[in-house]
Amino acid sequence: MRIITAKNYEDMSRKAANIISAQIIMNPKCVLGLATGSTPMGAYKQLVDWYNKDDLDFSMVRTVNLDEYKGLDANHEQSYRHFMDSHLFSHVNMNPDHVNIPNGIAADSRLECQRYDDVIAGLGGIDLQVLGIGLNGHIAFNEPDIAFEKKTHLVTLTQSTIAANSRLFNDISEVPTSAYTMGIKNIVQAKMILLIVSGEEKADIMYEAFCGPVTPAVPASILQMHNQVIIVGDAAALAKLSINTTI
Ligand code: PGA
Repeated sequence: MRIITAKNYEDMSRKAANIISAQIIMNPKCVLGLATGSTPMGAYKQLVDWYNKDDLDFSMVRTVNLDEYKGLDANHEQSYRHFMDSHLFSHVNMNPDHVNIPNGIAADSRLECQRYDDVIAGLGGIDLQVLGIGLNGHIAFNEPDIAFEKKTHLVTLTQSTIAANSRLFNDISEVPTSAYTMGIKNIVQAKMILLIVSGEEKADIMYEAFCGPVTPAVPASILQMHNQVIIVGDAAALAKLSINTTI
């Protein structure tokens, strides 16, 4: 595991974007696993900036996103599809046929989960998976105590996740109560994982995830078992991590 300490959010975003762009430059047809949330927004902005300077080409890149709210269609302002379009895809030369996100309004949840697993397998797996971490240690929408063996599945969101995400909705009652998410198994099968994290409120969970036991109670703790994880965090988020205990 490699831990890169950034000075602040901007520095974290630039360093993360550097790693993502290196992946695209080394393999223009790479499969990127992408995340939504406040954490990766700065990295996406940086990638758009480099694209505008003609330094990056997304035309052959394929993407799979981690998750999507159940019940929201692609055009809903709070859907993760909309987030990705407005923060990255519509600003670069992504081929829309290369974009994959669970369909929040699929008629049959079980078939949708199977379809998504098939999409990932059909792409040959994920080369670089970008991840954030939730305050309770979730990765994607894998909430505490979900089995590590799960692939794409439908989850009931915890109250803490609903409360955290309600900041983006007009009212907490509008936050969907369930979501499609890649499972831990899909995530750990990625060849390389880039976890980005910012802010002192994440310092405790980072300590638990990377210095504590590997347990489904802290989903991100499974990343200790992956041999290609890069953590890029700002100093506040990494304050409690001792480099010695995490190498
Ligand atoms: P955030 O979300 O980037 O908005 O903090 C991270 C997560 O919940 O996975």
